[in-house]
Amino acid sequence: MKRIVLVSNRVVSLSAAAQAGGVSVALADILKSERGLWFGWNGDVATSDEDLDKVTITKAGADSAIVTVPITEDEHRAYYLGYSNSVLWPVFHNRLDLAQFEAGYYQSYLAVNRRFARQLHSLLEPGDTIWIHDYHLIPLAAELRALGVTAPIGFFLHIPSPPSQTFLAIPEYRELARALSAYDLIGVQTQADVANLIAFFEDAVAGRILQDGRISVCDRRLAIASFPVGINLPDFQGASPARELAQATPGAKRIIGIDRLDYTKGLPQKFRAYERFLEKYEAYRGKVVLSQIAPPTREDVEAYSEIRHTLEHLSGSINGRFGEMDWVPIHYIHRTTARKRLRDIYRSSNICLVTPLRDGMNLVAKEYIAAQDAEDPGVVILSRFAGAAEQLKETLIVNPYDIDEVADAIKSGLEMERNERVARHRKLFESISTYDTFTWRKSFLRALETCAKERHRASGSSSEAIRKALDKVHLAHSIAKPADDKIARSALPHAALPEAAKSTAT
Ligand code: G6P
Repeated sequence: MKRIVLVSNRVVSLSAAAQAGGVSVALADILKSERGLWFGWNGDVATSDEDLDKVTITKAGADSAIVTVPITEDEHRAYYLGYSNSVLWPVFHNRLDLAQFEAGYYQSYLAVNRRFARQLHSLLEPGDTIWIHDYHLIPLAAELRALGVTAPIGFFLHIPSPPSQTFLAIPEYRELARALSAYDLIGVQTQADVANLIAFFEDAVAGRILQDGRISVCDRRLAIASFPVGINLPDFQGASPARELAQATPGAKRIIGIDRLDYTKGLPQKFRAYERFLEKYEAYRGKVVLSQIAPPTREDVEAYSEIRHTLEHLSGSINGRFGEMDWVPIHYIHRTTARKRLRDIYRSSNICLVTPLRDGMNLVAKEYIAAQDAEDPGVVILSRFAGAAEQLKETLIVNPYDIDEVADAIKSGLEMERNERVARHRKLFESISTYDTFTWRKSFLRALETCAKERHRASGSSSEAIRKALDKVHLAHSIAKPADDKIARSALPHAALPEAAKSTAT
């Protein structure tokens, strides 16, 4: 049985993965069912340089292993907090204003990727397929190739890919484009992300779209396609309403929000929209509660320091303004909640309010849908700037910056007739079951295999096999047609190429 080698910055045990969030859950799920190895940072900071070569191997499942390594304090500052989370994270989320292009960050980013490549190289076996995840590890494939690795290497970007003009603001944009060209296949969350990445390659390094749907970049040919991340539905089904929640606010309807306390999640805007809702629709005072769970994250990054105070201030002021002895309008919890409790919380909530300013996918929306009672489901209010909005068309789509629109959507959600809720939920449920975590993984790995085979065989001519593989990817999630037809056409990396690109393709 072939082995899948997964690499991500943050690696945790299979049991802790559920708590660590989207990427870890998806990778842990793969390791539970396939023969694999999961490599990355153990979350520790090494106190001495000797500790750096300390590789910890833990058995996971019958045939798999988790391999972790530490990083130094300097690398933690410059690679993790610095380049990854103060340059790539804000820029990829369209927040150039928060990016900190500091000297030394990129060098450290490259050095950590180089060391990871060396450490991983010694663990590779013939026949391995390598799948690298997220923005921390863009240069890893190029570093592995430099060590002579010829295995299929795929990359999946879990966060959004920014518009080309924004990407070009990163001083090392050419290096990043070249590094990305070392992959056989790049997967992103949405078709809009595909369009952005193609435009970036065209602008940054004169990338050219080829007839087989791949893109020629820096003398290499790579494929880019969207594979929306899904969830494992059974993890959220069979929920029962959480009794203590009903007792805490008898008769009140619950709006639930679950987001890491990140500036991309639009939490201050969400609180202001809720305040606006209470201002505008007085009859709902005392009858609705917003429960916002916002676990802490990356607290050492400067851009995150303000947001905690802002939220504490906002929730305090809204509760002070509208609260009664027997009613607290906002329950704000700045702690992690055990994931196994979430499905009952979802099931006990009438609305799920997911209003990030920018988000790669957002799995909370999907988890909420999975946990609902199909006979009497709740309503999802979803930001148009979350990747999930490309797929979950039957949610109430809002602009998170427009607090009046969100306030009105809350009212519509609370007042939506049961048959409309049932009809919308049926379609949403169908969509998340069709494109769940298994389809995501299988369609990516199948496309990667085809792309890598083609590389080995290729003499450079256009390839029907690649086109067919990419067509299949598209068909697998044709439920996820983007609203904007212009984006849709240019985003498809194959049959639907824009006419201009077709005529120049070689
Ligand atoms: C996002 C990223 C992941 C990251 C996670 C938690 O979901 O896409 O790659 O692991 O946030 O962030 P952290 O910095 O704690 O790993």
